[in-house]
Amino acid sequence: PETGCLSIVVLGASGDLAKKKTFPALFNLFRQGFLQPDEVHIFGYARTKISDDELRNRIRGYLINDKNASPEQVEKLSKFLELIKYVSGSYDSEEGFRLLDKEISEHELSKNSVEGTSRRLFYLALPPSVYPSVCKMIRNFSMNKSDLGGWTRIVVEKPFGKDLESAEQLSTQIGELFEEPQIYRIDHYLGKELVQNLLVLRFANRFFLPLWNRDNIDNVQIVFREDFGTDGRGGYFDEYGIIRDIIQNHLLQVFCLVAMEKPVSLKPEYIRDEKVKVLQSVLPIKDEEVVLGQYEGYRDDPTVPDQSNTPTFATVVLRIHNERWEGVPFVLKAGKALNSRKAEIRVQFKDVPGDIFKCKKQGRNEFVIRLQPSEAMYMKLTVKQPGLEMSTAQSELDLSYGQRYQGVSIPEAYERLILDTIRGDQQHFVRRDELKAAWEIFTPLLHRIDDGKMKPLPYQPGSRGPAEADALLAKAGYVQTHGYIWIPPTL
Ligand code: BG6
Repeated sequence: PETGCLSIVVLGASGDLAKKKTFPALFNLFRQGFLQPDEVHIFGYARTKISDDELRNRIRGYLINDKNASPEQVEKLSKFLELIKYVSGSYDSEEGFRLLDKEISEHELSKNSVEGTSRRLFYLALPPSVYPSVCKMIRNFSMNKSDLGGWTRIVVEKPFGKDLESAEQLSTQIGELFEEPQIYRIDHYLGKELVQNLLVLRFANRFFLPLWNRDNIDNVQIVFREDFGTDGRGGYFDEYGIIRDIIQNHLLQVFCLVAMEKPVSLKPEYIRDEKVKVLQSVLPIKDEEVVLGQYEGYRDDPTVPDQSNTPTFATVVLRIHNERWEGVPFVLKAGKALNSRKAEIRVQFKDVPGDIFKCKKQGRNEFVIRLQPSEAMYMKLTVKQPGLEMSTAQSELDLSYGQRYQGVSIPEAYERLILDTIRGDQQHFVRRDELKAAWEIFTPLLHRIDDGKMKPLPYQPGSRGPAEADALLAKAGYVQTHGYIWIPPTL
């Protein structure tokens, strides 16, 4: 791995994303020894005029809980905070970015006097409206020093535009300033343990190879549920809605990994090539295969317009036109203010032909990957009911991570993704053509919703969402198993 000076610049340092996700992830990497104090310096950049210590105090509470912290943790924390400097400036002024450059350079020279590199990582914890101007400022005034070598990388996060056109415009603006290998588009679902496991699961197991196709699989669901509403984010959310917030990015990324063909190798470009291919094979979405919902009370939020047509729930059926998947519905479902919080992939197999047990009514084989909470994979299958009778029952082969990997702590998505950025591995980041293909799938539907041609159905907060969504699922072929639920094992 590369060594030498590494400067991590968090732009938008006092914002929510930085406080809740970026700094905690950096601290965790530091704690585990991935950020060496003799190499790394962290810079916070934002408009507010505050001192280094004020920034440190603002983020401190997000890093550890002072009340329960051990003396070692407190010590680690102060070591970490010492690495952080604050620079204030606007997002479109030469002055601010020249100052930033000066501060970074001083650090590079002081630590790099013998040998080393100028590695600069810019994390844009900012609204996308300022991406173009910030990128321009970085490009003009704050790039790594070529005589020291190293690199400059930019980390950005959704929303990347609101539809195909605006996304392409943003991509072009950034693309004129930075090359694709310098741009890291985060989709934090790609940093989740069980999402990263998908590739291994599918392509390293003989079990799945022959089954993973239209001959055996009846339907696939990719589901995201939250049991809280848009709490305090109504203003942002109303501009985007659940399809842009969750489905077009997080669920579609998971979809790619479930449905794509085997990549030539693990090289990031090969993996991303396959993702693009499967996205390009998705057929246009049909209105009758969409159910939208909006929870009652959503419009009570003062930042949400009274007439808002924004969906907080959506079920969308995607159909892939290729040899492996023709005829298999992929049902993507996401909702806020539902009755539970979980994210899972549910692969339902076809009925057993020539069944001699008459057990169809009991349920079909399912392979479920629970992304969160309680990470797990389980296979729902039919077994003989233990006892004297020859009767059948539903049971499961269960790989629950909490039980199987006791004492292993699963890293936060952002931790992994930042580490990948430092290492220069783009496998778990969204490539420009992938983003474009994703927008191509959803833009026509989004425009129909934006134009008020499709309306969300009301649903009760704390419910399963509109009943029409269950009806659509059934129509797509999903057969619900009655009288069986999987209970995560307790330790
Ligand atoms: C974000 C969305 O990208 O993902 C939020 O903007 C959502 O609306 C969040 O709550 C969910 O992430 P996670 O990791 O908690 O599933």
